Amino acid sequence: MNQVAAIILAAGKGTRMKSAVSKMLHPLLGLPLLSYPLQVLGRLEIDRQVVVIGSSGQEVMDVFSDWSGISFAWQREQKGTADAAAMALTEFEGFSGNILIVCGDVPLLRAETLRELLHRHRQAQAAVSVLSAVLPDGGAYGRLVLDSAGELIRIVEARDALPAELEVCRINSGIYCVDADFLRQALAGIDCENAQGEYYLTDMVAEASQLGKKVIFSDVSDLDEIMGINDREQLSNAEMILAARIRQQWQTAGVTIRFPQQVTIETEVMIGQDTTIEKGVSLKGKTVVGVGCYIGEGSILQDVHLGERVKILPYSVLEKAVVEDDVQVGPFARLRPGTVLREKAKIGNFVEVKKAEIGIGSKASHLSYIGDASVGNGVNIGAGTITCNYDGFKKHRTIIEDGVFVGSDSQFVAPVRIGKNALVGAGSTVTKNVPENAVVISRTQQTIYPDRGMVSRNVTREE
Ligand code: UD1
Ligand code: CA
Repeated sequence: MNQVAAIILAAGKGTRMKSAVSKMLHPLLGLPLLSYPLQVLGRLEIDRQVVVIGSSGQEVMDVFSDWSGISFAWQREQKGTADAAAMALTEFEGFSGNILIVCGDVPLLRAETLRELLHRHRQAQAAVSVLSAVLPDGGAYGRLVLDSAGELIRIVEARDALPAELEVCRINSGIYCVDADFLRQALAGIDCENAQGEYYLTDMVAEASQLGKKVIFSDVSDLDEIMGINDREQLSNAEMILAARIRQQWQTAGVTIRFPQQVTIETEVMIGQDTTIEKGVSLKGKTVVGVGCYIGEGSILQDVHLGERVKILPYSVLEKAVVEDDVQVGPFARLRPGTVLREKAKIGNFVEVKKAEIGIGSKASHLSYIGDASVGNGVNIGAGTITCNYDGFKKHRTIIEDGVFVGSDSQFVAPVRIGKNALVGAGSTVTKNVPENAVVISRTQQTIYPDRGMVSRNVTREE
C-alpha cells in the first residue's frame, strides 16, 4: 500500500519548439529537459517510473536507455492526457499503491514539493491530489472548480470554461498524486466530449468527486516549479532560474562566486569549499573542482577534474583533462582531452596540451604544443617547443623522461624518446632517441662575419 510509482507524460509533440529534436532532449545546463523531473522523482523513494513517449520517442529512449528504474510506454496517437496515462498503466499491472503523475517538461519542480503532495495525499487518504497554484491570471491553464464547502469537485479546461469559471485564479499544474486502483477505474470512464475532442486526465477529479472519494489540492508557493517549457524563450528562462539556484547552492556550500550572474555552473558539476570562481567562467558537464581552487575570468572547463589548490588563470579552455593538486594553468592555455597534469606542474600562456601526461613539477610556460606525449617529473620545456606527433598518416608518441631540459624552439619528431636528464639545445629538431644525460643539438653552427653589420652597409634605410 505504501508503494509509489510515477508516470511522466512526455508524448506531446512540442510543436512550439520548432525543432527536429524532441522537446524532451533540449538541454538545460548540460542535461536534457526530461532528466530534470526524472532526477527529482529519483530523489523520492519511487519503485517504478514509466515515461509515456510519442512520435519522437525512439530518440528519447536512446538517450535515457541507461537510466535505472525507468521504462517506456508508447502513445502512438496524441489523444489526450487521460489516454497517455492509460498507456502508462499497461506497465503497472498488479500495482496498487499511489502514482505520481508529472509532465516531462517541468524542469524547476522540486523533490520536496512532490514529497509534500504525497504526504498530504496519504494523510487525507485521498483518491486524487492535485498540485495547484494561485495565479493573477490563469491563462490557458485548467481551473479548479470548488463547491460551496471549498471541496474540489472538478477541473475545467480554459477552452471549455464558462466566463465565470475562467475568472477562477486557482489553476491545475498538471501534476497529481493518484491512487492506482482509482486511476484504472476512472480512466475507463473518461470520454472525449470537450472542445478539443481529447481524453482529459483532469476529468478524473469529477469522477472521484461523484463517487464520493476524497479529492484534495495543494498550492505551490514558488510558481517557477510548475513552469512548463513549450518554446525556446521559456527554455532559456527556465535555464536562467536553474542556473541561479545552482550558484546559490554552491555559495551556501562555501564557494566564492564573483559577479554570479555571469557564471555558468551546469547541473552535475561539483565544487570544493573555498574555491573562487571569477566572472565569465563556465563549468560544464561532469567537471569536479577541488577545495581552495581559483578559476580565473573567462575560463571554460568541460568534464575536467581539478585537484586541490589548482589555479586556472584567465581565459583558459580545458576539456576532459585531469589536473592534480597545486597545478597552475594559463592564462590563455588550452588543455584538450587526455591531458593529465601531475602535482605542481605548470602550463603557461599559449600552451596546448593533448593526450599527454606532464609529470610532477614539470613546466611548459610559453607557446608550446605537447600532444601524444609523456613528460616525466621535473622537466623544463622551453618556449616554442613542439611535439611533431603527426606524420600525415598516423599519430606517434614523444617520451621525455625525468629531469630533461628542453631549450626553446625545439621540435620532437615522434616517435622519439629523450632519456633522463638529457639536455636539448635551443632550436633543435630531434628525430632520433637521445640517451640519458646526453646533450643533443641539431641546429647548424653559428657563423660570424665581422664588421658586415648594419653600420658597414652603405645604404640608407627606408623609414
Ligand atoms: C494540461 C491540463 C491542464 C493543466 C496543464 C498544466 C489536461 C486535459 N489539462 O493541459 O488542466 O492546467 O496541463 O500544464 O490534462 N501529453 C501526452 N499525450 C497526450 C497529450 C499530452 O503525453 O496525448 C503530455 C504532454 O507531453 C505534456 C502533458 O501531457 O507533457 C500535458 O499536455 P498538454 O497538452 O501540454 O496539456 P495542456 O493542454 O497544457
Ligand atoms: Ca628551428
